[in-house]
Amino acid sequence: MKKYNFDQVINRESSGALKCDALQPLFGNSELTPLWVADLDFAVCPEITEALKARVEHPIYGYASTPDSYWQSIINWLDRRHDFKVTREELTFVPGVVRGVAYAINFFTQRGDKILIQQPVYHPFKMVIEGNERVVVNNPLRLTENGYEMDLENLREVVETERPKMMILCNPHNPIGIQWGADVMREVAKICRENGVVVVSDEIHGDLMLYGKPHIPFVEVSDDAKAITVTLGAPSKTFNVPGLVSSWIIVKDEALRTPFFHWLEVNEFSSPTMFATIGAEVAYTHGEEWLNQMTSYIEESIEVIDDYLKKNIPQIKIFRPQASFLLWLDCRELKLSQDELVNLFVNKANLALNNGTMFGKEGEGFMRLNIGSPRSVILKALAQLADAVKSL
Ligand SMILES: Cc1ncc(COP(=O)(O)O)c(C=O)c1O
Repeated sequence: MKKYNFDQVINRESSGALKCDALQPLFGNSELTPLWVADLDFAVCPEITEALKARVEHPIYGYASTPDSYWQSIINWLDRRHDFKVTREELTFVPGVVRGVAYAINFFTQRGDKILIQQPVYHPFKMVIEGNERVVVNNPLRLTENGYEMDLENLREVVETERPKMMILCNPHNPIGIQWGADVMREVAKICRENGVVVVSDEIHGDLMLYGKPHIPFVEVSDDAKAITVTLGAPSKTFNVPGLVSSWIIVKDEALRTPFFHWLEVNEFSSPTMFATIGAEVAYTHGEEWLNQMTSYIEESIEVIDDYLKKNIPQIKIFRPQASFLLWLDCRELKLSQDELVNLFVNKANLALNNGTMFGKEGEGFMRLNIGSPRSVILKALAQLADAVKSL
């Protein structure tokens, strides 16, 4: 079996990487260690590079056809990895998950409509809702001694009083890495169906399950869910190919799907592009072993980080994620204001992480750390952080 090397440090400067190029404009310092935007610093599985290279060698980049094998590779992957049975007609392409969310908002809701999210959550949800002149309704996650929970009682109350037209579910939930349980999601589906709420389930982190925990697609939990769900996913996080822009959308319910997919098609939003289909098909067909080794590497990194923090920076704690490579750092014991906390990470430790309040005001006292980097990079970053905390 081939062993992939996730310890290799690859210089991403001058490769057009947002993670590096946006350091100066966003953080005011191009020298910070970038541990923010959610891509990986690991080389992709070599079959992806080889397939793209082979196509690049041909000197004509005309309009691309989409092979049936591309669709089949997604269908096979979802069946094999998640026992999620999807037919060709239930599936189409979208150029990015956030764009998919935006298309659903534009198609299923009107200006001024309310859309429910559960903060702290992936910040573009709020930006896309507000950018399209819709109104955010929040059902904050509840933080208990055992970690974060979905507040189902409040969800019912908010849905019944605020009457949102749509809910955007993050499953698994970025930034905390929670895979929602089937019972919880069944209740969400019941509440939403009873109240005419369409659920857009963003499952982009669903392939990145850790510790052998299964991913449960929201649409699979009940007939209620089937009737109201638009599912979004992608190979982008899974195989580190977000630059290829190759996301997909699944709608099981025919009445929901037919007009929506027609609208996507006539506007050519669902027309795949050449490198997107090549990269996605190869990843879904040949990337499984790479993914398994990569998630094992992340699991080990979580242990190393947890151990380091306990020994050296006990004021900062992690929430152990069930999925993905993002750690939600609980920094509340440092007793700093959010500005002071950001200053500690950026100006004292020279690290670029996502500010917790980016995900909603519930993120006060928290920072999001992307651990999809070689362990040597993470350990160096933690040492810088330990020094910075000592200097407080
Ligand atoms: C929950 C979630 N949805 C969507 C995206 C971005 O997806 P895309 O690049 O396909 O728009 C991310 C990236 O971090 C994410 O965490």
